[in-house]
Amino acid sequence: MFHNQLKPFREDFLWGASTSAYQVEGAYQEDGKGMSVQDLHESPEGITDFKVASDHYHHMKEDVALMSELGLKAYRFSIAWTRILPDGDGEVNEKGLMFYESLIDELNKRKIEPIVTMYHFDLPLALHERGGWANRDTVDAFEKYARILFQRFGKKVRYWLTMNEQNVMINHPNAMNPGRIPTKKELYQQCHHMFVASAKATLLCHEMCPDAKIGPAPNIVAIYPETCSPSDAIAADNWESIRCWLYYDVAVYGRYTPLVWAYLEEKGYTPEMMDGDLELLAKAKPDYLGLNYYATATVSAPKNDGTDCQARNGDQQVMVGEEGVYRAAKNPYLKQTAYGWLIDPIGLRVTLRRVYDRYHLPILITENGLGTKDVLTEDGKVHDPYRIEYLENHFQQAQLAVSDGVDLIGYCPWALMDLVSTHQGYGKRYGFVYVNREEDDMKDLKRIKKDSFYWYQDVIKKNYCS
Ligand code: BG6
Repeated sequence: MFHNQLKPFREDFLWGASTSAYQVEGAYQEDGKGMSVQDLHESPEGITDFKVASDHYHHMKEDVALMSELGLKAYRFSIAWTRILPDGDGEVNEKGLMFYESLIDELNKRKIEPIVTMYHFDLPLALHERGGWANRDTVDAFEKYARILFQRFGKKVRYWLTMNEQNVMINHPNAMNPGRIPTKKELYQQCHHMFVASAKATLLCHEMCPDAKIGPAPNIVAIYPETCSPSDAIAADNWESIRCWLYYDVAVYGRYTPLVWAYLEEKGYTPEMMDGDLELLAKAKPDYLGLNYYATATVSAPKNDGTDCQARNGDQQVMVGEEGVYRAAKNPYLKQTAYGWLIDPIGLRVTLRRVYDRYHLPILITENGLGTKDVLTEDGKVHDPYRIEYLENHFQQAQLAVSDGVDLIGYCPWALMDLVSTHQGYGKRYGFVYVNREEDDMKDLKRIKKDSFYWYQDVIKKNYCS
């Protein structure tokens, strides 16, 4: 649809930026922090681990000052569960609480809305060793952790996100399950426990922090059929429901998507539930939806001949396609990044419209951005017109979605500053702020404002992207 007049972003639009604890903080063993599954992560040869990362733990005030200079209205970050409860559900670590309290105070002082993700891929190792999310006790541990966060920060934080990309943890489980990749049956059991844990946290938030808002933050993208063949359309429906709608349907409506339940039954993956689980899921209602968007996916009808599941771009870490359900297909209309990620700004508009039509809840874009190599030039600058172009195109589509009627409350690009990319370390950078380090060489970790920093500053100032 063409609009003669575009609607503006709302006055209180949350122009933000995102990070996650284990990718940005470093200080992985400091001040009583326990180990998480990410601390055991084996990085590919030549790629950094998460021990130092961008050393945000020691640069926190400087980093918040940069956010303020950028003009951010919001900052989305995650709390490391292991800083608060080093072994997942035992003793509370006061020093961990103090770190996040000073970060939150610093943000509030500068009128930057803290948006807190409670759990971003970094399950405490002690819980993992006891079965992780497959063990029902982890639900209680998460509830305990949530209670501590709401008690301490409930008066200072208005926006909470329960879990980052639950659907990625289930569909691409390698990085979160050191030791052994669980079977699909086990993963859907983990998934059910995550749903119950999120529902408990949502109810608790509403009870303990009546002024706060809470929601999930899955990775949601529209799925296109490769052709107008009805069989491709069914495959696209299959994958969109399994990959995306399940994660909002359970959170919003408290019920498994019927198509997904039929799939789980067909495959023998149905999770065990306890009495009262479904009532609990139905009772917990999110106030808004977090949405991480990178690019749409295109699929075709499955052949069901043993070849439907394949490695994406030859990367065995990311398997796509599922036997008898869908096959991954190429989209000839889209360009890709140097790392093979598709670029589809219009797909963001499609995704936002679909999500809003289905759930009628305010949407916050909690991640979106371009990961690529950046070069620090001799004059000490980073010229990243490619990032500006990427974000500008996406912001424009977001405004079109707003003009289509979508209630979009904010946009938090990934990432505020360079941080450890999950598979490519510092080779692949996302930030508005360059962090001067390489994979093995920590250099001076100096913060350098990229060209995109100044461009985004202007967008925020004008509440507009021309
Ligand atoms: C999102 C995750 O899926 O993608 C982030 O929430 C991640 O943690 C981001 O960093 C970009 O992916 P990558 O693999 O380039 O780091």
